[in-house]
Amino acid sequence: MSQDQSFDVVIIGGGPGGYNAAIRAGQLGLKTAIVESRGVLGGTCLNVGCMPSKALLHASELFEAAQHEFKTIGIEVPAPTLNLVQMMKAKQDSVTALTKGIEFLMKKNKVTYFVGFGKIEGQGKVSVTAQDGSVQQLTTKNIVIATGSEPTPLPGVSVDQKQIVDSTGALSLPAVPKHLVVVGAGIIGLELGSVWRRLGAKVTVVEFLDRITPGMDTEVATGFQKILSKQGFTFKLGTKVTAAKTGANGVTLSLEAAKGGNPETLEADVVLVAIGRRPFTQGLGLESVGITTDQRGFIPTNHFKTAAPGVWAIGDVITGPMLAHKAEEDAVAAIELIAGKAGHVDYDLVPSVVYTFPEVAWVGKTEDQLKAAGVQYKVGKFPFMANSRAKINHETDGFVKFLADAKTDRVYGVHIMGPQAGEMIGEACVLMAFGGASEDLARICHPHPTRSEAVRQAAMGVEGWTMQA
Ligand code: FAD
Ligand code: NAI
Repeated sequence: MSQDQSFDVVIIGGGPGGYNAAIRAGQLGLKTAIVESRGVLGGTCLNVGCMPSKALLHASELFEAAQHEFKTIGIEVPAPTLNLVQMMKAKQDSVTALTKGIEFLMKKNKVTYFVGFGKIEGQGKVSVTAQDGSVQQLTTKNIVIATGSEPTPLPGVSVDQKQIVDSTGALSLPAVPKHLVVVGAGIIGLELGSVWRRLGAKVTVVEFLDRITPGMDTEVATGFQKILSKQGFTFKLGTKVTAAKTGANGVTLSLEAAKGGNPETLEADVVLVAIGRRPFTQGLGLESVGITTDQRGFIPTNHFKTAAPGVWAIGDVITGPMLAHKAEEDAVAAIELIAGKAGHVDYDLVPSVVYTFPEVAWVGKTEDQLKAAGVQYKVGKFPFMANSRAKINHETDGFVKFLADAKTDRVYGVHIMGPQAGEMIGEACVLMAFGGASEDLARICHPHPTRSEAVRQAAMGVEGWTMQA
């Protein structure tokens, strides 16, 4: 072996956690290696998660607009036809461009990239097994585990990636199913359900709880469900799937009320199982350094340090929201701690976005959480119906909601449901990171005509001086 195989940091996993850790380590002058088994960098997010799903959400949104909205605003075009093969190719081309970009960033930051499965072989030791079975041994001062997560399986419903798919299969269906049944009314179910509904599928969502999107502010989730239902989604809430039978004509799902009750069946062409994700640590050799995972499979950490000296963990494999930008924050903080700096992540300020139409975005506390904690708070709300840009664009569904301390006015949470909510939530993140009050935002000039004026108006609403509604 010609290469020097000793490093300051060896990162296992090349997703948003791993590659951002590698870049930061390279920037700080640490001798760094990254080990990734899938043969492509970018992890779940770039390959089978955030990016391909957003490519299909974008394309299907335009398809639907061409079908239904163009005419209203005076654009006469023949009814669009779907070229699913081209849509999938465009998605894959974008993904490839992004993953190649990450490879370039590894080179730029002098990070050595090993293609293969990484296994911890003891303190400071990692083996890399390539697809052809050849093994390389690396030695390192620090190991960063960034092995991410995988879909949670549903007992009795086994994924074949043809008739019963997980998110990966749902991103590459070869044809639009007539009836898609989604199990789980969470983020994946609603985003990918939106894609296939817009492309022509009837979509039924079966959810165990009596609400959609747990974790989202209840008032927002209730409004969101109404909008999705108007778009054509059917929801079967408080319902569990007990079994699935595949056959030549599709899938027969056995359902029953979550609380127990009469069983019923539901026929589907394709079933998407999206009931959450679980940490992935299979074959990683955690036992060789004495690390045990918790009951849910997460690696316990304290400021990214695991129980083993010199072994750190970040991203989906540790607790916290399973989001790419959270993994990225973990990555930078962990590497800065390794380099003797002061890495820190404020988990109260990790925003969430559901990229449906309209989008739903939020940061900080929900009203449910404030009530449960007995906090005295004030609410400011502003509907997009009263926002001039939203009206001009015929996109008036949704609202902005501010939650601020009843006495100090410090903002606890901001919730936005409306087009481009994901772009607009950024200013709430900045406001809250600086410990801002709703009056601070209410007094900041915003450009007109923009949807962001609705954010300011909601902040004014907390003060009781909304101008436009
Ligand atoms: P991962 O991205 O899962 O990367 C881990 C990598 O480690 C994988 O590539 C895996 O092959 C590799 N690996 C595992 N074990 C080993 C080993 N022993 N040796 C070598 N390599 C190994 N998040 C958002 O913030 N926004 C979104 O819009 C969004 N959309 C999503 C859509 C879908 C359909 C899905 C499934 C997820 C989405 N997510 C989104 C979540 C996001 O993808 C994850 O939170 C993020 O990828 C976690 O990053 P990570 O680096 O911790 O792990
Ligand atoms: P989720 O946790 O968002 O939602 C899962 C849903 O399934 C919940 O509503 C839950 O109550 C329900 N459920 C659980 N068990 C069930 C059962 N047996 N029967 C019926 N319903 C059941 O998980 P999801 O959608 O799989 O996504 C996983 C994670 O991926 C997300 O939590 C998020 O971290 C990440 N993600 C983020 C995206 C974004 O940021 N836009 C997009 C997609 C995924």
